[in-house]
Amino acid sequence: MIKPIIVGNWKLNGTKKRIKKFSKLLSLFLTQHNFKGTIAISLPVIYSYIIKNLSIFKKKKIFLSAQNVDNHTLGSFTGEISPNMLYDMMIKYVIIGHSERRFNHQETNYIVANKFRLLKKENLIPILCIGETEQEKKDNKIKEICVKQIDTIFNMCGIHAFDNSIIAYEPIWAIGSHNSANPLKAQFVAQFIRQYINSKLNYKIKNFFIQYGGSVTKNNILELMSQKDIDGFLIGKASLKITEFIKILELINI
Ligand code: 13P
Repeated sequence: MIKPIIVGNWKLNGTKKRIKKFSKLLSLFLTQHNFKGTIAISLPVIYSYIIKNLSIFKKKKIFLSAQNVDNHTLGSFTGEISPNMLYDMMIKYVIIGHSERRFNHQETNYIVANKFRLLKKENLIPILCIGETEQEKKDNKIKEICVKQIDTIFNMCGIHAFDNSIIAYEPIWAIGSHNSANPLKAQFVAQFIRQYINSKLNYKIKNFFIQYGGSVTKNNILELMSQKDIDGFLIGKASLKITEFIKILELINI
């Protein structure tokens, strides 16, 4: 792992006070340390301004990510936020296809692919979450599920779809379970994803990264990051606590 991409996904957590405190300590850490990778924080989008006001944001030591986007660009879609609005708010990365949205909001592969298409049009970087359920793992369907989720994107967005994008392999059973994927197994799937994407292309892909997500902590980060095809992490719970998040960044930066 040369220049890891670390994204903290706060999900439906945080208050103004808590995020300000987190930002202050993260700023201090990043000012005192030369972090070699890329860090983005995916807050509930209404709190993004807190990060945007930091000097480390202006110095591009930290980036903003969103947790979702609508699959329309404008019009009568009450409550939604479009890709161009996110771009306008200086958000760079957008998580799409998270299993929590696929399950809780009935987002199909088709809807996710349409979001991916709109993000690319707006020059935002999609973080496409893919991965299998516990049952699908038992049924030996990991590759099949990943291929299906990837193919819908290729079919809608064409051969260059994954240039400048991120795939986060997040086995659903590992999310919030305190039971991360075995690092060698995560590597196996990450390698499969990379090989599969490359097998579809007749050119060398640019700026394509694979993250692992699912119960990443300070205790398992070292082993996970030593895997060749894992380029970064999508971190849920452990990104909420500044002490743990900083510890993870320290370990990555060794
Ligand atoms: P946890 O790190 O809490 O398992 O969450 C992972 C995740 O869903 C990140 O998007």
